[in-house]
Amino acid sequence: MRLYVNIDHVATLREARQTDEPDPVQAAAAAERAGADGITVHLREDRRHIQDADVTALMRSVRTVLNLELGAHAEIVRLAARIKPFQATLVPEQRREITTEGGLALRKGDRRLSGAIARLQDSGVRVSLFIDPSIKTIDLAQVLGVPAIELHTGRYAHTWRRSAAALDQLRRAATHAKQIGLAVHAGHGLTYQNVQPVAAIPEIEELNIGHSIVSNAVFWGMEEAVRRMRTLIAEAKPAILSPR
Ligand code: PXP
Repeated sequence: MRLYVNIDHVATLREARQTDEPDPVQAAAAAERAGADGITVHLREDRRHIQDADVTALMRSVRTVLNLELGAHAEIVRLAARIKPFQATLVPEQRREITTEGGLALRKGDRRLSGAIARLQDSGVRVSLFIDPSIKTIDLAQVLGVPAIELHTGRYAHTWRRSAAALDQLRRAATHAKQIGLAVHAGHGLTYQNVQPVAAIPEIEELNIGHSIVSNAVFWGMEEAVRRMRTLIAEAKPAILSPR
């Protein structure tokens, strides 16, 4: 199980003052020292946190791999195809949302999305699609010819204290996706409290976690925050853990 650390909120804090600290490059290096397998950033169309210069600087400094989250907007896709991160995760993006709200609504014949996938894949970037854990959507992702999907864990993150339904849905989705040959990633809303049942799903090979790690880094420091998350993920066991 790989842990990719999303450092968007380091840039959010910097942009709150429009200054030069805290620096996402330093955050990425600290995460890597603590065992992160990759660094994730979302270059939003409105550039509210990560800036183009951050992505360029991270491409030079990251020693693991860079996973760039992006909406299928022509300008950002062009930039990603030029910068060539190891992986691009296509996400739905709405200007007024606080964070990515749902998975991509996949439709047959969506030229914008299939064009973005083709452009990225042609430039050698591994493409993943951020989607809800629905069997129908997973099948559509496969038709689009991507090697990987990221299952949206937002519903699980909101409901895990009171119900096991969302975890069951994630398990079924992960099994199905793996069976039809897709690599399975997951993320959104995962925390130190709720990560283990998801980390214990054997078909999931990569978790993308940001807000909780950066939040706790305020108290523990970035390295310790990543180390503690890594330990929880490594110790997650399917048979013993249930969300309640
Ligand atoms: N995966 C995707 C596709 C996301 O858009 C985000 C949020 O930027 C995350 C994972 C990480 O979510 P969180 O910050 O809630 O851990």
